[in-house]
Amino acid sequence: MADTSLIRPDGAATDWTIPQNWGAYSQEDHATWDTLFERQVRLLPGRVTPEFLEGLDVLRLSKPGIPDFEELSDRLMKATGWQVVAVPGLVPDDVFFDHLANRRFVSGNFIRRPDQLDYLQEPDVFHDVFGHVPLLVNPVFADYMQAYGQGGQRAAAAGAIDRLSRLYWYTVEFGLVKSGDELKIYGAGIVSSSSESIFALEDPSPNRIGFDLRRLMRTKYRIDDFQQNYFVIDSFENLLDQTLNTDFGPIYDELHGASDIEIEAILPTDRVYTRGTQHYARTKDGA
Ligand SMILES: [Fe+2]
Repeated sequence: MADTSLIRPDGAATDWTIPQNWGAYSQEDHATWDTLFERQVRLLPGRVTPEFLEGLDVLRLSKPGIPDFEELSDRLMKATGWQVVAVPGLVPDDVFFDHLANRRFVSGNFIRRPDQLDYLQEPDVFHDVFGHVPLLVNPVFADYMQAYGQGGQRAAAAGAIDRLSRLYWYTVEFGLVKSGDELKIYGAGIVSSSSESIFALEDPSPNRIGFDLRRLMRTKYRIDDFQQNYFVIDSFENLLDQTLNTDFGPIYDELHGASDIEIEAILPTDRVYTRGTQHYARTKDGA
């Protein structure tokens, strides 16, 4: 993920990469990965899009311990020409977009503490590698991620990063995809979280509505808790197709100054899969 106003730490290269330093992980670090991994692979079959499970297989992510990025990149490079590079944490937007545009996925090299399995202040190696990297084995999704990076560079020039970052949030991090009559999860923020893997699909609280680019770019999101709204894509092909064949410039112009859509709103034009009760968010917010 990207952030603005960050200062490059000592020891990081100009593109913010650092050595993964795989040898420095402790037994406890590897055990944390294994615990998180086992929990997710029990939950995901039937809930996650099959392309994700195929990616786990191709990358042999079931091997115990935190993956070595060199080994991981070798397999990923053979599949789709992507690599995984280590960074110390969040990186600035321009650095992030440049890596994606060049088919490099940036991953934090640290792992959460064992007493904080469900708490993440910043994306760690489990979120970044387990959550994001398996889908990079899929050629269509791999192209989408690169297209996003290239789009980010254009959005930066147009002063529209806030609009575009909503696309990342609602697809790459928290997307759902149609699969016949069912919905499946594919967003990394969901697939790397045991509680949201269930909530996103099965809880009656959130709205689940059909993907609509303009609408999505006007929709707020929350970073502090389960989502109140998920956008459902028809397929990865459709997502890539819309991203490549839409001229975002005129959309940014059109949306300039447009009001935001509240996170729980459902519009008459929405394709509604689930009209959520919002029970979870209302209870949590004390309303
Ligand atoms: Fe992420």
